[in-house]
Amino acid sequence: MSASPQPVDPNNLEALWMPFTANRQFKRKPRLMSRAEGMYYYTPDNREILDGTAGLWCVNAGHGRKPIVEAIQKQAAKLDYAPNFQMGHPIAFEFAARLQAMLPGDLNHVFYTNSGSESVDTALKIALAYHRARGQGQRVRFIGRERGYHGVGFGGISVGGIVGNRKQFGAQLPYVDHLPHTHDMSRAYTKGQPETGADLADRLEGLLTLHDPSTVAAVIVEPVAGSTGVLVPPKGYLEKLRAICSKHGILLIFDEVITGFGRLGTSFAADRFKVVPDLMTVAKGVTNGTVPMGAVFATKAIYDAFMDGPDNVIELFHGYTYSGHPLACAAGLATLDVYRDEGLFERAAALEPYWQDAIHSLKGTKHVIDLRNIGLIGGIELESRPGAVGARAYDVLVDCFEAGLLIRVTADIVALSPPLIVEKKHIDRMVDTLGTALKRAA
Ligand SMILES: Cc1ncc(COP(=O)(O)O)c(C=O)c1O
Repeated sequence: MSASPQPVDPNNLEALWMPFTANRQFKRKPRLMSRAEGMYYYTPDNREILDGTAGLWCVNAGHGRKPIVEAIQKQAAKLDYAPNFQMGHPIAFEFAARLQAMLPGDLNHVFYTNSGSESVDTALKIALAYHRARGQGQRVRFIGRERGYHGVGFGGISVGGIVGNRKQFGAQLPYVDHLPHTHDMSRAYTKGQPETGADLADRLEGLLTLHDPSTVAAVIVEPVAGSTGVLVPPKGYLEKLRAICSKHGILLIFDEVITGFGRLGTSFAADRFKVVPDLMTVAKGVTNGTVPMGAVFATKAIYDAFMDGPDNVIELFHGYTYSGHPLACAAGLATLDVYRDEGLFERAAALEPYWQDAIHSLKGTKHVIDLRNIGLIGGIELESRPGAVGARAYDVLVDCFEAGLLIRVTADIVALSPPLIVEKKHIDRMVDTLGTALKRAA
């Protein structure tokens, strides 16, 4: 390597191995966004792209928010980094206290990570270590759910239920089983939560009988499954999971990486559904997507179970170099201020009926076979082309991008989840652009 490297061609896309992307297809015809403000991204040639997905479900307060940008700049100048093992810095404690104040039920401790995937693996490890600390080290099993997405760590893909994310990687965590997912096409076009289907939670009792409930550490679910196509929990389903877990001393983990921070019109899905888990994983909206950060929220009972031995012994052998990074904490504090000062969670709740009507106005549009919604999330399921699952939705994604709208697709399901600053005119434009792309799609 030369000390003064040769200038590189900024248009050379080859060096980067892109995540969850068909690299060769993308690099033949790239879709680049180089700037963002408010509800819009801008391409390098300054074309406006309406953000229908809050980036990747993370930019809940919209793009380029001044108070957040300034807080990050100020913090970078003041304290760029400080170690956090056996050391601390004030802003990490301050942000944890702010988060604690907004947590539901008995959740009241914050363990920092840097992503949703790390949050999930951290929560699974805390669950195992908690049981062990209480003399129940035989509780080593996890129960996830089909069509669950819990990130890409080995723990996350093991409890997750996405075949494509598992099959390339051979062995995963042992002792994992899965609940059935909650989606049922006989309930197509349901608005909000389905009235029926809560009994699917009873399948947990069956799995517990099979495995012996005293061997199960935790059940992990997304309150609303986002990444596999917006699967809204039937009324009473999460309540039942909660009751069954409590009955057997099993921890319930809610993965709120996308449902946290206002997406459902409340701080967390736990608030909306009035079901409080023992552990909650978050990321994304915690810093409005500006600086990578995640967290696990734990109940007092879980935290206290670790605080039992001699006080000079490290209680949990786990953590990341960047847990509670100063820039992330500064971004997080400013983000919570924006959410509060602009009433963005309430705004999401107020817009939900309009959003629901807009999503369901696509009924009857070419290729559409189901429409689902909750909070400011919409799922538009398309009929797949025979033998080519995902091809039609991908064409729609490309068409929308060219027409100035960012959408997200999984297989043949389009997901919309705009920043919570979205206005009715933006919602109209999203539905209009998507509807036109659907009509054009082969
Ligand atoms: C529910 C859920 N859990 C975990 C993750 C993983 O988060 P990350 O990509 O930050 O690791 C995601 C990402 O979309 C998610 O939706």
